[in-house]
Amino acid sequence: MGKAKRIGVLTSGGDAPGMNAAIRGIVRTARDRDIEVLGIRRGYVGLLDKDFCILDRMDVSKIIKTGGTILHSSRSLEFQTEDGLHKAVEICLEAELAGLITIGGDGTFRGARALSLKGIPCIGIPGTIDNDIACSDYTIGFDTAINTVKDTLDKLSDTTESHERCFLVEVMGRNSGDIALHTGIACGAIAVLLPEVPFTIEQTISRIDKARAIGKQYFLIVVSEGVTNTICDESPSVFDMAEEIQKKTGIITRANVIGHVQRGGSPTAKERVIASEMGYYAVELLEKGIGNRIIAMHRSRIVDFDILEGLSMKKKFDHRLYDIANAISE
Ligand code: F6P
Repeated sequence: MGKAKRIGVLTSGGDAPGMNAAIRGIVRTARDRDIEVLGIRRGYVGLLDKDFCILDRMDVSKIIKTGGTILHSSRSLEFQTEDGLHKAVEICLEAELAGLITIGGDGTFRGARALSLKGIPCIGIPGTIDNDIACSDYTIGFDTAINTVKDTLDKLSDTTESHERCFLVEVMGRNSGDIALHTGIACGAIAVLLPEVPFTIEQTISRIDKARAIGKQYFLIVVSEGVTNTICDESPSVFDMAEEIQKKTGIITRANVIGHVQRGGSPTAKERVIASEMGYYAVELLEKGIGNRIIAMHRSRIVDFDILEGLSMKKKFDHRLYDIANAISE
């Protein structure tokens, strides 16, 4: 960045616990290096609306422990048009931004790349509860989300056990089954149903039958939303599945969709540390004049990738962890 004196930061897409910790890391690192930080509210929508605020050290005080994002978030259609992009570049130049840090998921990074190619150096930080950024082993928000789900599943498990029932619980993740897989293991689910692994209700019922035969009396099934959302019109809802399981097993079966509560809450310690590290790293890159990069976690180290390279990677599903989930669940 050479003589750069001002950078911008925005959060975009679905919010995630730990985004505030990343913003704090960015602001504190930049201010230490005498770089001014312009907070851009409501993601790319706010960039186009020039919804800006200067962020200084004390403006980010105490936010390390808060969920959500102090900058607010949105998904912008205008920014995805050629005119919108052109306008955004003009605004960045007018605001004298030497670089921009964007915290979010794939869509956020596509925007960061488009801006980088137009001469505005951008750095993407992976922030989404879904853990679905292929180039990064970890995305900010995932640890808090799985802990929130874990708390809920433990509570549902209490009532399921008391009544000797079966309970299907749908968790978020868009097209990634990571939240379901990790929480299914953590909470002893009899089955985890994921978009990455084809399954039939018959297979799920046979897992229940086998466990019943050795004395198990209650059954928790974690279903990733990628299985039941809009993949095709015929995708059964978690409620349809529950009805079918009840009909075929005779076990009273209930279903629950956990929903947006998974996106909230105070970030875990792990989240706070990784978000702080990523924020620090992002400022370092911009200070060196490097843009068009995604920050990522690779084998417990923070690294960076070219945005296009990062976006074109295919997420590897952890089949071994899935096998472990199945092996130890009954
Ligand atoms: O990407 C995060 C996420 O919470 C997904 O898990 C979910 O599919 C989606 O966002 C929900 O989006 P919205 O808040 O727009 O309904």
